[in-house]
Amino acid sequence: MGAPRQMWASAPWAEDEPLECTMIIPETADCATIAFRAPSGAWFDYQPGQFLTLELPLPGGPVHRTYTISSSPSRPLSISITVKAGPDSLGTRWMLDHLRPGMRLRAKGPAGAFSFLRHPARKYLFVSAGSGITPMMSMTTWAWDSGEMPDIVFVHAARRPADIIFRRRLEGFAARVPGLQLRFTVEDVDPLEVWPGYRGRLNQIMLGLMAPDYQEREVFCCGPEPFMRGVREMLAALGHDMTRYHEESFAAPAPEGVTVDIPAPAPVSELAFAASGARIASDGSETVLSAARRAGIVIPSGCNFGLCGTCKVQKLSGEVAMVHNGGITEDEIARGLILACCARPQGTVVLDL
Ligand code: FES
Repeated sequence: MGAPRQMWASAPWAEDEPLECTMIIPETADCATIAFRAPSGAWFDYQPGQFLTLELPLPGGPVHRTYTISSSPSRPLSISITVKAGPDSLGTRWMLDHLRPGMRLRAKGPAGAFSFLRHPARKYLFVSAGSGITPMMSMTTWAWDSGEMPDIVFVHAARRPADIIFRRRLEGFAARVPGLQLRFTVEDVDPLEVWPGYRGRLNQIMLGLMAPDYQEREVFCCGPEPFMRGVREMLAALGHDMTRYHEESFAAPAPEGVTVDIPAPAPVSELAFAASGARIASDGSETVLSAARRAGIVIPSGCNFGLCGTCKVQKLSGEVAMVHNGGITEDEIARGLILACCARPQGTVVLDL
């Protein structure tokens, strides 16, 4: 255990510096918070609710995984994510089994538009399930630290009370300020524990009891895609103004019901790589990411559906058809950057790789 030390650099952390793991804190039986610092002492500048993409050195080669940040930028000396390994997880499983304090990882970000700072409102409704609680925790900690807790109804769904991540910390906040109201619902109770919260899946009646004025609230939702779809459809059916509904997902390419116009494949496309000299033919229906992989060029990627920005590459010439989910700005597109995971070459395209 190290002695306390002064560590404060004048510049914010930039992604060319690896992150050093400092702590791994168990949260529930299958979930842990992993805290990182910048070895230079740089501080972290981001918006509560944003995400970070980590490069994980798996035995078969590095993989990129995107995680919502669970810490708050109001505590800028470290940054943390809170992870739970699903049954098919590779990257998160590796972190829980192998990552130890002192190890360093490359990271990109922070990025993302899912933050209540971008949608100022008098009243909020946070709705989360499972590890979808992480961006809500970041935003709630920010509100607490700022000393101006807005009116937040915080609804969280979990399997059992023991699975509620951050329960004690949130109850500590809620016990001290009037603005934060916690509403937990669980599918099953724990043995030998009195459960005073809701029981069962979130539904319209439950929502009406938890937040009778939900129509007046700016809604932030995060959780598994089926959960978010249920919340989205429920609110839409109840006549909620869906321009005031925001969700974060790292699991689905595009919300159901959203049609995406992908131009018909260009008859003959070619991808050329200026730095390596490689070239590969493509019919224009596959993404730049997979065509590059066929040419033996690995472009780092995370979400694979245009959200995290990990696969951003510089295009030198040519046209691509690109349908993204917010992982790139208009300004970056104007400068010729593309997201390889969701861009399809239209004719000959030259990349700076
Ligand atoms: S991999 Fe996330 S935007 Fe392409």
